[in-house]
Amino acid sequence: MPRGPAYPSDSADYRARAERRLPRFLFDYLDGGAGEEQTLAANPAGWAALRLRQRVLVDVAGVDTGTTLLGQACTQPLVLAPVGLAGLMARRGEVQAARAAQARGLPFCLSTVGLCGFAEVASHSGALPWFQLYMLRDRGLVDALLDGIWAAGCRTLVFTLDLPLPGPRRRDRRHGLGQPGLRPRLLKLAQTLARPGWVWDVALRGRPLAFGSLGAHVPAARNLEAFRHWVDAQFDPTVTWRDLDRLRQRWHGRLVLKGLLDADDARLALAAGAEGLVVSNHGGRQLDGAASTAHCLPAIVDAVDGRCEVLVDGGLRSGIDLFRALALGARGALIGRPWAYALAAGGEAAVHALLGQWQEELCSTMALTGVTRIADIGRQHLDPD
Ligand code: GLV
Repeated sequence: MPRGPAYPSDSADYRARAERRLPRFLFDYLDGGAGEEQTLAANPAGWAALRLRQRVLVDVAGVDTGTTLLGQACTQPLVLAPVGLAGLMARRGEVQAARAAQARGLPFCLSTVGLCGFAEVASHSGALPWFQLYMLRDRGLVDALLDGIWAAGCRTLVFTLDLPLPGPRRRDRRHGLGQPGLRPRLLKLAQTLARPGWVWDVALRGRPLAFGSLGAHVPAARNLEAFRHWVDAQFDPTVTWRDLDRLRQRWHGRLVLKGLLDADDARLALAAGAEGLVVSNHGGRQLDGAASTAHCLPAIVDAVDGRCEVLVDGGLRSGIDLFRALALGARGALIGRPWAYALAAGGEAAVHALLGQWQEELCSTMALTGVTRIADIGRQHLDPD
């Protein structure tokens, strides 16, 4: 278990610490959403609006938060979601977070645009991460990535559906990582120099600052900005369900499709052979004005009707929200910003503490709603009014 000072373990505390530690453009990349950030705000509000039914005088001495997700045993139904650029939040950030996840008995999903590559995360965390993939214009590269992660032992692929193009992120446009020109460059330099702790921890000791899983395939990219440009140009607006058939034929492991909000799309995803779905609006980073995931989840659970695992992400901020997601019928949830804030705030030890707090909160919520097993949590635990 990682040792370290006692960290605050509320998501809001970690967010505040992350804001103090990260250069502004990086914090905004993580914290921001698309457009007016309405969907970003709707996500946590959607969970908070669900009232739980307190039950009393039930024997809850043996509460057990353990379950399985996509065949993998977990101490609670929680996955660390793929977060792009997590290796900029702290030194070799994906490795630190994956180590915390492994110590807590939870899956870690590595982003295509993580700084650490699959092999680095696997060898330094002692666990095989799940891998998130976008459909890139260069299908040969998609095949090469699939072959590479398969050979390295990956068996769970999380394929992102909701990014045919990058969402309109206003904060990124203002002073984002990929903004060209002298003024944004100077602004970023000033923001970076204002965070000497980050410069020491990440910019100097966290090298190489390149996308680990893509590195060998993008020889022209000399630095992170060049990588970012390359990736943005690789998002493919022509992708359809037909490409999914090809992917399904090619990938022999478990396939999880992420980025669904619509019950009709969920049926198509099932027909495409998915073993898991993630109800997601990409953390409010893509279609601003889309409904919260708490709103969309029940119709998708009903449409799927137990034929594959339904997971959800977006705006969960505590183990209590995790319980709410399970009560609406999710098999489990993914969290992104909460672990990335914790990583920026205090590295592996903070992520470890955060995950422990979520499990405690889930456990006490189960006890106070009178349920002892994850499989028994359902809509009956929500106040119907
Ligand atoms: C990438 O998927 C992002 O949301 O920045």
